[in-house]
Amino acid sequence: MRLNTMAHLDIAHHFGAKLAKRGRGGLILVGAMGAENGIPRIANDGAAKAYVHSLGEALHYEFKPLGVYVTVLAAGFTNTEVLEKFGFDPKTMPMKPMSVEQCVSEGLNALRVNQSRIIPGRLNRIMNALVPASVARKMEADMIGKAQASRPAPAIA
Ligand SMILES: NC(=O)c1ccc[n+]([C@@H]2O[C@H](COP(=O)([O-])OP(=O)(O)OC[C@H]3O[C@@H](n4cnc5c(N)ncnc54)[C@H](OP(=O)(O)O)[C@@H]3O)[C@@H](O)[C@H]2O)c1
Repeated sequence: MRLNTMAHLDIAHHFGAKLAKRGRGGLILVGAMGAENGIPRIANDGAAKAYVHSLGEALHYEFKPLGVYVTVLAAGFTNTEVLEKFGFDPKTMPMKPMSVEQCVSEGLNALRVNQSRIIPGRLNRIMNALVPASVARKMEADMIGKAQASRPAPAIA
């Protein structure tokens, strides 16, 4: 919770003030696709990411006249170590996770043109636009639930 709220706020405040003084620069705030809909089974993470989205979109507006760009990167499943922690095997996931390189590259391209929010990946963008929130929630709950169930039980000391 602290990592996704206070840390984002403190860092945006600290560096935002410096960039505004300089009159140029940019910030990317990393959120998560679907955060506003609620993400069952990682409810707290999803809710905290909704804070990041709201903070970033508002800061985008506030910083624009100061020459500072702000973009929210609302990432979908991306192939990092965190997937394994959730119990996912990136090779067998129903939707292949995006490469880190593509996610970063799309985020930076959006920042270059001061886009307020980017969902990296065309398929993710189509799904976000077309799939109703209730259906997306169920899909995520099923996927994350299955992955969590396949995780080995923690060792009891
Ligand atoms: N991967 C995905 O599918 C996905 C999807 C949507 C959004 N995201 C978002 O993308 C961002 C990067 O995630 P990731 O997939 O790269 O996850 P990750 O592999 O677990 O990396 C998370 C990073 O955050 C650092 N971190 C964690 N807790 C911290 C703390 N309390 N203080 C300081 N640093 C801390 C970790 O540092 P250490 O290595 O030192 O622990 C690590 O570098 C996150 O904001 C995540 O929510 C990821």
